[in-house]
Amino acid sequence: MNAIYLDHNATSPLDPRVLEAMMPYLREEFGNPSCRYGPGVNAAYAVERARLQVAQLIGAKPQEIIFTSGGTESNNLALRSAVRTMGRKHIVTTSVEHPAVLNTCRDLERQENCTLSILPVDADGRIVPHKVLQAITARTAVVSVMTANNEIGTIQPIAEIGSLLQKEDVLFHTDAVQAFGRIPLNVENLHVDLLSLSGHKILGPKGIGALYIREGVSLRPQITGGEQEFGLRGGTPNVPGIAGLGMAAELARLEMENRTARVTSLTAHLRDRLRSTIPGLLINSPNRDCLPGTLNVSIPKVSAPDLVDSLDREGICVSSGCACSEGKRGPSHVVLAVTGDPDRAMSCIRFSVGPENTMDEIDHVAHTLSKLLPRPTP
Ligand SMILES: Cc1ncc(COP(=O)(O)O)c(C=O)c1O
Repeated sequence: MNAIYLDHNATSPLDPRVLEAMMPYLREEFGNPSCRYGPGVNAAYAVERARLQVAQLIGAKPQEIIFTSGGTESNNLALRSAVRTMGRKHIVTTSVEHPAVLNTCRDLERQENCTLSILPVDADGRIVPHKVLQAITARTAVVSVMTANNEIGTIQPIAEIGSLLQKEDVLFHTDAVQAFGRIPLNVENLHVDLLSLSGHKILGPKGIGALYIREGVSLRPQITGGEQEFGLRGGTPNVPGIAGLGMAAELARLEMENRTARVTSLTAHLRDRLRSTIPGLLINSPNRDCLPGTLNVSIPKVSAPDLVDSLDREGICVSSGCACSEGKRGPSHVVLAVTGDPDRAMSCIRFSVGPENTMDEIDHVAHTLSKLLPRPTP
């Protein structure tokens, strides 16, 4: 791809070292990990090595990691299973969750008669921890609060919420798809029971993810079949994808500090350039506790989807709002929840920078953007 790619929260390029780690399992090591002969054992070894690599990145035990097809499936497994396992029908979540959580909750509302408490956020997109506690009732099965927001980057106070919930008889789930491998995470410090993660935001492959399930929490499978993944997820495992996720997790663990420093300085430069060239620019990302590399801005009176199309014609990839809602051309539900301003939610652009981006690319993007915008009338 020759385009300048600033959409790492949608997905990220595959690291060549990750591809290399996957290749044997696409070629000669094609065995089914459930089989007892040599090739099966080799594949099973690759799966267990990856389980350890993923576990190490979040301070979990390997047996607490269940491989899935990605963040969406992990969220579905966590929420649907929590409701069934707990035998209760109330869910507490937030207005800024990804559709993989919000639409799963809405489906549970329709299909299982669940009731939802969808909590509002403050002007930074952040949840006030004690409001979560106040929302809990005797009917609450699960609380689900994302670790970092995919659109504006807000990092939620998960550890504080987790510690408040410790005495409550509810499961605490966090969708950590954007945070995994990008900021330090430790399931003990966060006091979470369930944590969703994905491979493709951290230079890993698409279609692979995992759910951390705290030891002692018993969930019911959502995909029934064979006894794979400790009986929690039937189906022959995606061995190449799992090996790739393991390697991506390992590299993220070793390189997180350098990657963070790099994307932080690139994003700061982008913010400064945009501020100095675009009159009336509004910053939707929070000033503090923001996912490194994420910058969401609104440009008054500009239609974000049209601007995204114009940037695409110039060879620049960015998103308006959430990639999963792209094509709908509606306002961003996150920016709307944070600002209450439909115009601002229609005019927001998300830049998400990755470790392979350069200062020259940032300068080029800022220059192109200011060239594309209508000149202010004198
Ligand atoms: C916060 C969040 N949760 C869940 C998902 C879905 O993950 P996946 O694409 O692996 O299904 C995404 C992907 O954009 C995300 O940003």
